[in-house]
Amino acid sequence: MVDLHVSGLGLPNLALLAVVSATAYYAAWLAYNLLLHPLRRFPGPLLHRASHLPRAYYLVTGALGHKVADLHRAYGPVVRVAPDELAFADPQAWRDIYGHRAPGEPEFEKDGRFYRPIDDMPENIVSARSREYHGALRRQLAHGFSERSMRAQEPIIGGYVDLLVHKLREACSSPVSSSPGKAEEGGKVNMREWLNWCTFDVIGDLGFGSPFGCLESGSYHPWVRRITETIRFGGVVSALMGVGLGGLVQAISRCGGMKSRDEHQKLTREKLLQRIELGAEGRPDFIEGLIRKKDELGMDLLQLQMNASLLIVAGSETTATLLSGATFLLLTNPEALEKLTNEVRSTFADDADITLSSVGSLSYMLACLNESLRRYPPVVIGLPRVVPKGGAQVAGHVIPEGTRVAVWHYAISHDPALWTDPMGFHPERFLGDPRFAGDALDAMQPFSLGPRNCIGKNLAYAEMRLILAKIVYHFDMRIAAESRGWLEGQKAFTVWDKPPLQVYLRPVKR
Ligand code: HEM
Repeated sequence: MVDLHVSGLGLPNLALLAVVSATAYYAAWLAYNLLLHPLRRFPGPLLHRASHLPRAYYLVTGALGHKVADLHRAYGPVVRVAPDELAFADPQAWRDIYGHRAPGEPEFEKDGRFYRPIDDMPENIVSARSREYHGALRRQLAHGFSERSMRAQEPIIGGYVDLLVHKLREACSSPVSSSPGKAEEGGKVNMREWLNWCTFDVIGDLGFGSPFGCLESGSYHPWVRRITETIRFGGVVSALMGVGLGGLVQAISRCGGMKSRDEHQKLTREKLLQRIELGAEGRPDFIEGLIRKKDELGMDLLQLQMNASLLIVAGSETTATLLSGATFLLLTNPEALEKLTNEVRSTFADDADITLSSVGSLSYMLACLNESLRRYPPVVIGLPRVVPKGGAQVAGHVIPEGTRVAVWHYAISHDPALWTDPMGFHPERFLGDPRFAGDALDAMQPFSLGPRNCIGKNLAYAEMRLILAKIVYHFDMRIAAESRGWLEGQKAFTVWDKPPLQVYLRPVKR
């Protein structure tokens, strides 16, 4: 043991020395970031250029998506949002960061701090590091997302959408969920929950082969509840990683987080084992291709589990979020709602005519969904990639290797330099209206692009069209007073933290 008195330093002096040294080190690091760092020439607020703390603060408070939009308005299309990170609001940046590469040309890897914060977790298709493993997984999953599979999935998806309509009918006429009085207004329902339950039931069935029963019970299955809670926690984890507290994240995960993680995994395992028992053939779901090739891919049960869980998270919360956003935006833009209602009700004479393929003909509906994807992109933040060895060009700028780069979904979709009236709701901008001729339509990529873009994009569009068409066909809708400000100040972590969306529904009499 060191004799502190011999060395002439008492404990208080040692503590003081430690504080002074840490402060001097931190001050030198701030000065380095501002004056000598290879990214010093890029604009951004002083505090963001100097330290990771402001980014982490906005991330945990759910305000980072809006903050980056403000920063682009103030500093232009490239902003240094943290000492080693740049945000881009330029359509070319999508292609440069996320686009396909020629063989042998390196990809911009997914940033491990965001995608793999807990290093003992097996990888899934989204977090997979290696191009080869990702490619093999994607090829296997592609079967479940083909045109042929989607046709075979139609009865499953359609069945849940019909159940949603049936349950909404019940809910809006139930005395519990209706507001008192004014029968002509219909009953009040929380559309956020019903849309979430429907998409979780659909994807649960297509991912695991067994439904979660959310619509039937009118409540969240524990598996689903846990997933929605995890999304919020993900923001905190990512912020801690960003300020260099990765060790703390690992420790929390090993102690406190472990119990609920284990329970969740147990439930996932049970569901997957039930699905495996059904056999790989004969069920047109997503997991069928993986089960068939699991030995060839070297996948154990845990890896299968990770991918099945991922498919459900990726495919349900996103779709439900967009549908909630579209419902709110339509109800607060009556002209657009009226045009959509006319389109749907004049196209279909009967409920049975509304199918996964027939809704493809609704052009105004597609424009409404695209405008909702712009105004309310389900993935709000920028999905970070790392510039490969030797550096690379992004949107005409030479960026040094190791830099964290991303295009921020919400920010680029609301940039006044790229969109006319970006805060308005104008489906017409997607229908060739000359008022919006200057819009950069390729600036929004809500499903990302390139080899790691959304594999479920076609399914998402088909499902969103079917659900919205059935709701508009069967119900007249009006926003409840308490939800009129639904979008104002809404927080977002990776996806939006949606408050309840209260809507009056009145079944259409035919
Ligand atoms: C409106 C709905 C949706 C949106 C906005 C959306 C958005 C995205 C985005 C931005 C990515 C890229 C993630 C990254 O770069 O890290 C992605 C990937 C992915 N999405 Fe979607 N998604 C939606 C619906 C779906 C659906 C219905 C499924 C079906 C299960 C799905 C499954 C996936 C999968 C498996 C990936 C990973 C693909 C890969 O890495 O090869 N998504 N999605």
